[in-house]
Amino acid sequence: MKDCIIQYWNSGANGYNKGIQRLLHSHKENSGWKSVFSEYLNDKPLKVLDIGTGPGSMSILLAEMGHFVSAVDLSEQMLHCARENAKECNVTVDFKVGDAENLPFEDNSFDAVVNRWVLWTVPNPKAALSEWTRVLKPGGRLLIFDGNWYSGEKTCVQKAWKHGSRFYTLLSERRNMWKRDMDNTFVDGLWSTHANRPEDDCTLFMNAGLVNVKSSLDLNKKVYTLSDYIRQGHWGDTFIVTGVKPDGTEK
Ligand SMILES: C[S@@+](CC[C@H](N)C(=O)[O-])C[C@H]1O[C@@H](n2cnc3c(N)ncnc32)[C@H](O)[C@@H]1O
Repeated sequence: MKDCIIQYWNSGANGYNKGIQRLLHSHKENSGWKSVFSEYLNDKPLKVLDIGTGPGSMSILLAEMGHFVSAVDLSEQMLHCARENAKECNVTVDFKVGDAENLPFEDNSFDAVVNRWVLWTVPNPKAALSEWTRVLKPGGRLLIFDGNWYSGEKTCVQKAWKHGSRFYTLLSERRNMWKRDMDNTFVDGLWSTHANRPEDDCTLFMNAGLVNVKSSLDLNKKVYTLSDYIRQGHWGDTFIVTGVKPDGTEK
């Protein structure tokens, strides 16, 4: 399954990067994401790990906010885009190849662990949550962003909207998203396709030993521009899930 994941993201990295460059250069999106980070993370500089960083958008925004950021991804091609984007934005991020389920970091290394659009695609979410918790310092926060990409029945409106948005991407970016469809057997084998999210994410967080676990479904309105909404709105609500590694001071 991991080979399929690497091949899928390596082959799509340059196209995916177009959307990320748009995010990095859009004041509205850029400041929307930064205010979400400010809401959940301390404003003083933190050691942050971004897992499955892709072309590095979240890492770069966090570095621009003054945090010390490390980032991993399985795809070399995504990391190549991430390094180029960081150079262009004039920030330093420590990018390296790494697996979300087997992280190349010591226990208790980070004040915060973040990831966006990643948990849905890991083969073993329990192993991933256990790793993410392991590398957090006691008192550190896990913050993820994700969506119900393939789970649940989509309405006729959502299905029609998805094709319309692909047509829009074809015209505006010369990118054929029909060619990027994931293999049905692969999608069916993903845990997230059959999950009830974000409720199941909260259970995964709590089973990994995290406390103060909360989810919120109001991410779209905080970070989407109109153009994002046209492109992405058919997926439905995206969500935030967060939790804290206990440090012994909890009641
Ligand atoms: C949808 S992209 C999201 C990229 C980025 N986080 C963003 O928000 O734009 C999913 C990313 O997760 C990476 N990925 C998938 N499985 C992974 C794993 N087990 N370990 C590390 N990275 C992984 C892929 O290579 C890809 O870059």
